[in-house]
Amino acid sequence: MKIVEQIKQPIDYEMELFEQKFRLSMSSKVALLNRITHYIVNRKGKQMRPMFVFLVSKMVSNGEVSERTYRGASVIELIHTATLVHDDVVDDSNRRRGFFSVNALWKNKIAVLIGDYLLSKGLLLSIDNNDFDLLKIISVAVREMSEGELLQIEKARKLDITEDVYYEIIRQKTATLIAACCSLGAASVKPNSPEVDTMHKFGELIGMAFQIKDDLFDYGNTKIGKPTGIDIKEQKMTLPLIHVLNNCSKKDRDWLINSIKNHNKDTKRVKEVIAFVKANGGLDYAVTKMKQFQEEALQLLQNYPDSPYKNSLELMVNYVIDRKK
Ligand code: IPE
Ligand code: IPE
Ligand code: MG
Ligand code: MG
Repeated sequence: MKIVEQIKQPIDYEMELFEQKFRLSMSSKVALLNRITHYIVNRKGKQMRPMFVFLVSKMVSNGEVSERTYRGASVIELIHTATLVHDDVVDDSNRRRGFFSVNALWKNKIAVLIGDYLLSKGLLLSIDNNDFDLLKIISVAVREMSEGELLQIEKARKLDITEDVYYEIIRQKTATLIAACCSLGAASVKPNSPEVDTMHKFGELIGMAFQIKDDLFDYGNTKIGKPTGIDIKEQKMTLPLIHVLNNCSKKDRDWLINSIKNHNKDTKRVKEVIAFVKANGGLDYAVTKMKQFQEEALQLLQNYPDSPYKNSLELMVNYVIDRKK
């Protein structure tokens, strides 16, 4: 059995029902909107976030999920989708999930509005059902994601990023939503329990590993359904580059900074930068750090009794760093 099927086995029923509910949660009376949201749901992603919601919910409650769990999973996936649509505008990226991005097909104007629509649909799904405790978890994540993306832009302009600032960026833009998945999964069945905070931390650690992996993909040339090699073009400095910048000669450092500052659209030069980062151990360093986050996340699971859900979560933590897309 494939690893993803194995992970999903204890939540097969929930994931199937989730998909139906998620589809419905996007519907609108506006024909153009429906056309675009259909386009989006028909190219579904890995759905790792709803998987975390259901697995955590079932792990902390001995197999229980509630309507709140389903709504929480839909809200998170709606918000995740909204941020991807916006992110592709921000990053000027034309591919997503193996096909054209929304901005590539309908232009930025429409992509911005679609992202807003999905975000509001998500928030309303919580509000209409009085899930205010869950809404709070989600809203904090939404605020942090915007802050993270803006901090990233600020650093791309000044090119003065440190390793700690990088961790803060990825914590905000990515880890916080996965933390929300896990704490919401717990809160949906056991509100106000200490599990809510533990699972938040657990999700945050996985989220850190998850984004380091995503940033490593950008240095590769495997098919992952979205462009690779675009981070440097967008002057986005990620861990492999940051590590090399902090550990090379002044001459090399000046060359790197000059390349990113003034030659970031020059394909040949970008390739040289990528080769330099690889040759100087940037990827290896990032892999080491990613594994540290993975280990810390796995540690947090050790306090829970063995169950199929815990087992799947362990597999999931490993999948985050072994995945092929
Ligand atoms: C992509 O997330 C955005 C990041 C935070 C790196 P995913 O890799 O989970 O995207 P999909 O939903 O599977 O397409
Ligand atoms: C994560 O950063 C983006 C979000 C939090 C939405 P990236 O810009 O690296 O994500 P991808 O690579 O486009 O999916
Ligand atoms: Mg992007
Ligand atoms: Mg990326």
